[in-house]
Amino acid sequence: MSGEKSWEPGSALKNNIFISCAFPLPSFAERKQLWELCLKNSEHSSGETDLEDLEDLEDLAARFKLSGGHIVDAVCTARGFAAARSSGKSAISREDLYRACRNRSSRKLDSLARKINPRRKWQDIVLPPAVKEQLGEICAFVRHKETVYSEWGFDKKLSIGKGLNILFAGPSGTGKTLAAEIIAGEVGLDLYKIDLSGIVSKYIGETEKNLKKIFGEAETGNAILFFDEADALFGKRSEVKDSHDRYANIEVNYLLQQMEEHEGIIILASNYKKNLDDAFLRRLQFAVEFPIPDEASRREIWTGMFPEKAPLGEDLDFNFLSKFKLTGGNIKNIALLSAVLAADGSGTIGMNEALRTLKREFQKMGKICTPADFGDYYELVK
Ligand SMILES: Nc1ncnc2c1ncn2[C@@H]1O[C@H](COP(=O)(O)OP(=O)(O)OP(=O)(O)O)[C@@H](O)[C@H]1O
Ligand SMILES: [Mg+2]
Repeated sequence: MSGEKSWEPGSALKNNIFISCAFPLPSFAERKQLWELCLKNSEHSSGETDLEDLEDLEDLAARFKLSGGHIVDAVCTARGFAAARSSGKSAISREDLYRACRNRSSRKLDSLARKINPRRKWQDIVLPPAVKEQLGEICAFVRHKETVYSEWGFDKKLSIGKGLNILFAGPSGTGKTLAAEIIAGEVGLDLYKIDLSGIVSKYIGETEKNLKKIFGEAETGNAILFFDEADALFGKRSEVKDSHDRYANIEVNYLLQQMEEHEGIIILASNYKKNLDDAFLRRLQFAVEFPIPDEASRREIWTGMFPEKAPLGEDLDFNFLSKFKLTGGNIKNIALLSAVLAADGSGTIGMNEALRTLKREFQKMGKICTPADFGDYYELVK
């Protein structure tokens, strides 16, 4: 009976009959049954769960590729979470099960990539409706891909390319990382940010090895892989001029192949879509463009940026501040620094603090504050 790899005895067993029987990871339908069974057993032994409808089980089976043993473990862990929550026996909630699955599935990835804990939600991001709709479609894809592939039989039409490859393109600070975080939170998967500097090695063949480890872990680890600044790795394949070029191309080709075969979810973030190799673009199911926010969006970002408890001054004029062409990232920096200045000085965040920090942000970007832009407030930014 074999698991991950098959084994042939060759001539060692020539006087005996040898029959090989492979035990693959359970399919979507089998996982669903396993969840049902394990949760039912757990009910008999220790109270009930509040997962009545089948849809929740389908969700679990779709999102986490676990073996039967893993599912049993996850239910035990979830029971522990439920007990800890209410200091006694209590029903296992949906959240307990998700947490238990994530816990058990992604331990090894921690050493290869950085985990981002999703904290923010849809209401924290300001984007044009069309872009938000596209992000919603991505979530729907994750939720229903197993149903469509396994139950509706689309997987028989595709031998590879069953994963989900997504590109987020747009200028710095427009919310790409934030959107990835929100999606991960929404679909209940872990998000791992791949640190490219730790992966790309100057030693020939090492980069492939590192990537192989990551893709392997992510597949069984049921996590979303987030390649920030993808251009560094996924840039255009160069023409071969010397042996180094040749190896760089091998790395890119290897990556393309991995992306195609990987069955999990990959998000690539890039500041310049134009730099990406055509072969990558062809392998994407979604390409989402993050625009620089317009004045109305900027206003919404400004007002959403300050927490409820922040002491805002009466004079803080969001209409005025929204006039300046800034990204969400700039606005976040300004909001934070002006809060620090307020804590250090007057105690309230007013125009004085906001404009002083806006000036700093302008300086970073190499922009100049002109009297025409700032009008009556010019004194504060001079
Ligand atoms: N569209 C937006 N709506 C609300 N907040 C935003 C938006 N864009 C950016 N922000 C704020 O700016 C911060 C930085 O944005 P984020 O890290 O997502 O940018 P990015 O597109 O990933 O940039 P980079 O390309 O530099 O990595 C966010 O954490 C958030 O607070
Ligand atoms: Mg980012």
